[in-house]
Amino acid sequence: MKSTRITIIGTGYVGLVSGTCFAEVGHQVTCVDKDPQKIALLQKGGIPIYEPGLEELIQRNVAAGRLRFTESTAEGVANSEVIFIAVPTPPQPDGSVDLSFIEGVAREIASHLTTYRIIVDKSTVPVKTAEKVAETIRRYCKSKAEFDVVSNPEFLREGFAVEDLMKPDRIVIGVGSQRPVTAMKELYEPFQAPIIVTDTNSAELIKHAANSFLALKISYANALSVICEAAGANVQEVTRGMGLDARIGTRFLQASLGFGGSCFPKDLSAFIQISSQLGYDFRLLKEVQRINADQMDRFLKKLTDTLWVLKDKRIGVLGLAFKQNTDDVRTSPAIEVCQRLVKEGAILRVYDPQAMDKAKALLPPGPQVEYVATQDAVPEGCDALVIATEWPQFTQLDLTQTRRVMNTPIVIDGRNLFDPEEMERLGFIYKSIGRAA
Ligand code: UGA
Repeated sequence: MKSTRITIIGTGYVGLVSGTCFAEVGHQVTCVDKDPQKIALLQKGGIPIYEPGLEELIQRNVAAGRLRFTESTAEGVANSEVIFIAVPTPPQPDGSVDLSFIEGVAREIASHLTTYRIIVDKSTVPVKTAEKVAETIRRYCKSKAEFDVVSNPEFLREGFAVEDLMKPDRIVIGVGSQRPVTAMKELYEPFQAPIIVTDTNSAELIKHAANSFLALKISYANALSVICEAAGANVQEVTRGMGLDARIGTRFLQASLGFGGSCFPKDLSAFIQISSQLGYDFRLLKEVQRINADQMDRFLKKLTDTLWVLKDKRIGVLGLAFKQNTDDVRTSPAIEVCQRLVKEGAILRVYDPQAMDKAKALLPPGPQVEYVATQDAVPEGCDALVIATEWPQFTQLDLTQTRRVMNTPIVIDGRNLFDPEEMERLGFIYKSIGRAA
């Protein structure tokens, strides 16, 4: 295997995990970030996010001399053959993507470029961004050095990022010329995944098309959940029966209180915007958004239908992260549930195995919000218990004890973690998603 010198600009999820995994397979990796605190933390062996397996992997690769962290873009550009851009592309109020970080990095790379480099965009960006990045670098590069811009979208899931990166389903490499293809293929050879080489516009579209399709699958399951409830059927059985058809697949068909996170909501809005700019009204995806918003309203209605008035009711909430295995609370459905309950005057007892620190910025502790130390302590004195995140350890909750310590035994499960019959047998009023009560 050929070891390549790589620089990754941006130490968010994608940058940090990709950089570490490239080092793990034997490449020499420099991770660059402008934030001195983040770099200091990483240099000390700490990490700014919770991601299973990542910390040990970073420490091992730092110790092996394959992974280092710096604030200097100049150093990163000088010492590498391939430069990855992995900076945030946050949403703007109208749903479009803020590309100012990408543009800023492109200009910075341009100012340090003296000889041929492959510049790879890994951030999630609208179609045609690679062309814009190339144009920007050409404009700002005084040395007139040669370069290629490649689009190489990332498909990792938070919470499973190391696994997804080390064993990817596929690698997408979008190029404007053949020159960078061999080097890019060599870089990814150790991952033993199918490699698809396309033009840059297609590669960029693959990312938005894939995320939107996954969101669509979830919304489809959520729409089915409404029909199942009305018909007295079970959405888990319906989606399993559908999903075992290999053409459909069982994954991303778990009905829930709705999807969230820093990717699906943002990428859907962006893709709808991009499509509209390209002259296509992507109504199918607007419907995906609408189903998702309705699902949250419907979930909260289950609570009000049962408790009637929420003001001054004590409600336990299990889960704050947008999904299991992460401390990420960005656009988390669990946080939205809490914020809406607080608005209604409810008094919350909340718990999450990893996300409590990060949640405090969005859901400040106070008279209406108490952060509780263990999951078993959450139900104490509650009028209802809400399951908002699919952490597997929530299924270990001591249900007999829960039933005993609750003021009224009402459980509203937004993740279908418990068995309705068992809950009824234990004496709970139990409502979940798409399964008859
Ligand atoms: C998503 C994609 O799955 C990744 O492939 C992609 O690389 C990433 O976005 C990105 O663009 O960076 P992620 O946001 O980490 O990954 O999380 P997912 O596992 O996709 O879950 C997203 C949301 O959907 C969560 O709120 C989750 O609870 C919910 N979900 C997921 C469901 O409600 N039902 C399901 O069946 C699956």
